[in-house]
Amino acid sequence: MQKLSETAAARFFVALVVAFAISAPAAAQQAPDRARVDASATRPPRPGDEAEMHRFIADLMSQMTLKEKIGQLNLLSSSWDVTGPTLREGYRDDVRAGNVGAIFNAHTAKYTRSLQKLAVEETRLGIPLLFGYDVIHGYKTIFPISLGEAASWDLAAIENAARVAAIEASAAGVHWTFAPMVDIARDPRWGRISEGAGEDPYLGSEIARARVRGFQGDDLAAVDTVLATAKHYAAYGQAQAGRDYHTTDMSLRELWDTYLPPFRAASEAGVATYMTAFNELNGVPATANAYLLNEILKSRWRFQGFVVSDYTAVDELVPHGFARDQKHAAELAINAGVDMDMQGASFMTHLAALSKAGSVSVDTIDEAVRRILEMKYRLGLFSDPYRYSDEEREEEAIYAEEHLEAARDMARKSIVLLKNERGLLPLEAGDISLAVIGPLADSKSDMIGSWSAAGDREERPVTLLEGIQARLGDAADVHYEEGASYSFDPEDDTGAFDAALAAAGRADVIIAAMGESGGMTGEAASRTSLELPGTQQELLIALRKLGKPIVLVLMNGRPVSIEWADENVHAILETWFAGTEGGHAIADVLFGDYNPSGKLPVTFPRNVGQVPIHYNMKNTGRPYSPGDAEQKYRSRYLDSPNSPLYPFGYGLSYTIFEYSDLVLDRTRLGADDSITVSVTVANSGEVDGEEVVQLYVRDLVGSVTRPVKELKGFRKILLESGGSQVVRFELRPSDLAFHRQDMSYGAEAGQFRVFVGGNSEEVLEAEFRLTEDVALSDAPR
Ligand code: NOJ
Repeated sequence: MQKLSETAAARFFVALVVAFAISAPAAAQQAPDRARVDASATRPPRPGDEAEMHRFIADLMSQMTLKEKIGQLNLLSSSWDVTGPTLREGYRDDVRAGNVGAIFNAHTAKYTRSLQKLAVEETRLGIPLLFGYDVIHGYKTIFPISLGEAASWDLAAIENAARVAAIEASAAGVHWTFAPMVDIARDPRWGRISEGAGEDPYLGSEIARARVRGFQGDDLAAVDTVLATAKHYAAYGQAQAGRDYHTTDMSLRELWDTYLPPFRAASEAGVATYMTAFNELNGVPATANAYLLNEILKSRWRFQGFVVSDYTAVDELVPHGFARDQKHAAELAINAGVDMDMQGASFMTHLAALSKAGSVSVDTIDEAVRRILEMKYRLGLFSDPYRYSDEEREEEAIYAEEHLEAARDMARKSIVLLKNERGLLPLEAGDISLAVIGPLADSKSDMIGSWSAAGDREERPVTLLEGIQARLGDAADVHYEEGASYSFDPEDDTGAFDAALAAAGRADVIIAAMGESGGMTGEAASRTSLELPGTQQELLIALRKLGKPIVLVLMNGRPVSIEWADENVHAILETWFAGTEGGHAIADVLFGDYNPSGKLPVTFPRNVGQVPIHYNMKNTGRPYSPGDAEQKYRSRYLDSPNSPLYPFGYGLSYTIFEYSDLVLDRTRLGADDSITVSVTVANSGEVDGEEVVQLYVRDLVGSVTRPVKELKGFRKILLESGGSQVVRFELRPSDLAFHRQDMSYGAEAGQFRVFVGGNSEEVLEAEFRLTEDVALSDAPR
């Protein structure tokens, strides 16, 4: 047992000497002192050397009391930011008392350093804290909301956005981001649809991998990488009726084939942590779900990192009706596989007694501690607990020019052109008079959306109005009026229709910036309507009566239902919440400096009554095709078409892409074969442009029914005006696999249809046959 008076540095000496002896035997002879060990910061732990790490942690754990071990399992929020319902005022005292392993909502080099000092200098073993934060779409330089980034279908750009976020956040002392959110979401009423990659498991998995790579880089020991978190595990996206925190109930096949793939992809990409979900899944809350945590994640997927609960989710096992009291909740959660308790303090308060009573084994606690300490080790925190809290690097990294440029580029790429009647867009920048109208036209704080971490909402964000003014210069004839309100509360109405209509009446073109406030999506932001909130729709109707061309610039974090606008305005741009550089990016698209290339990662319904609606639905026994002679007893609505307003994968360009010559190099596929699917894409318009070429398949007959289409590949290509390219995809039996009737994983012999096109509806088709059943040994089940 160590003495209380020893310094943290000296306490790690034994392990450090072992480590040091391997690389520099002479130096290892020197006696350690605080400065000596701090100097080892320049030599971060070698991440490849697992044996060294295991020795170090075993040695450290052998010195820890049960109380100290339990301390590592608690994550508390600092009072700097509030991302949940409760705060624990005395979190500093908790740190001093050795009751805390990690702190979240604490950032900046200075503040994290001051908190780290408490852990390193005032606790017996000086084990460094881990600092977590919701760095979802940027730390200071804010990128478009995650759903917007997904609309770019540009994996390199998405990875880079996460990379930039990691560079900025890590310099500000953050070690760990609570991202990516990889929940498949198919219900736009659910506000958290804005935080993910949309409705599709294939696209969602590719984006999950890209984001994990971006945050974690190749080497967690590099000082500009952070631990990533795959959240919310699992099935949170299917909250009933789109109401946040609500129940989910689904078949295991649906869980495995739709909701788990992005989590699996994150695990394959080496994600360091998982966060549990708030919801129950088939009657068992995710935060005490041994099937999800111990069985799937830790046993089948061999996940080596640690699992953190969501905010007070352990305590919430009580209101769920799953745990009798907080103590029971702690027991159920840790025994199911939760390693760290976020904010609830149930572990802190009850684990010692539970261990004494034998309800939680020492091995279970040790396992959780080991997983957490390993991540601290991999980050290099035992070499230098302060290595991330670097004011100089913070100063350089934050808002670095290349970060702002990356944010602008990502924002341009995320914009989706939904309508462009008679080529209204791009606008000529010359002699044009513009009326820029709407509550979102000049709102800085809304521009960066929800979950914008430390993003500045007051000064930095470039609004649409500012972006247009910057593009057109001082001489521009631009009139701005807020005009309408987006608030749910009629009392907030600005009553400024007249001024807006007067400004619009003087202009050649009206640009209406409408949608939701930044806070209308994200956590605890469910809606029952998908209409434009407040008086915006009314203003839009009044503007339309002026008979002028209207460009509707949408800003929102979920699919909105804009059927009227689609019929009545001339051009529509979906810009999501585009981030710090958003106004410049939108202006780039409006004036043709960038040709829009975004495609919807989620279906836009005509009305909320169609929800859930997604492209990969089942056919039913009575499918409905518009125009069928016998219509009545068909799967359809009396008062709305079945079709969405805009389908998954949809987005226009200022040029025209034509698809031809869909060719399969074979029409029979055996277990060890692959098919090359090729298609010619030509740019027959007048400007260069990027196109997302999408490949879908349909398994025509299965032991369980299969979706009418499933995305299995995509490529984003740049084509010069007049140019064309043959795009090729490889299809293997593993791409056709699913959980079959007996829940085994594999592909079934039979006929398949292949579709290729620029969205999920306008496609070329061909067919092939899989000649034999293919069981996959690595079946995730
Ligand atoms: C609750 C949210 O569900 C989660 O996504 C977030 O990371 C935590 N709060 C921490 O802020």
